[in-house]
Amino acid sequence: MRVVNHPILGEDPKKRKITIYIDNKPVEAMEGDTIASALWANGIKACRYTPKNQEPRGIFCCIGRCNDCIMTVDGIPNIRSCITPVKDGMRIKTQKGNGTWEELK
Ligand code: FES
Repeated sequence: MRVVNHPILGEDPKKRKITIYIDNKPVEAMEGDTIASALWANGIKACRYTPKNQEPRGIFCCIGRCNDCIMTVDGIPNIRSCITPVKDGMRIKTQKGNGTWEELK
């Protein structure tokens, strides 16, 4: 869900649609989104699973302080999705545990 006409801020300026890949699935995002906002707009709430009990975690502080939203982005683990802007073609994975560095193909 997106707010396209805010009562105070007005209409959302038109932005270009881009495609990102979440766990290898193509997902539509808007230029200027953070990874977390693109996930929420597409109904995806879990960013990672905890190392000990494999419990899901999603956004909590939304200002880059708590690390609950970390994901593996373009092969790099522990990227805070709430403060990282999307880029066209970005490959994002739900992080399991502490994450691992991955080679991109
Ligand atoms: S939600 Fe807290 S760092 Fe992203």
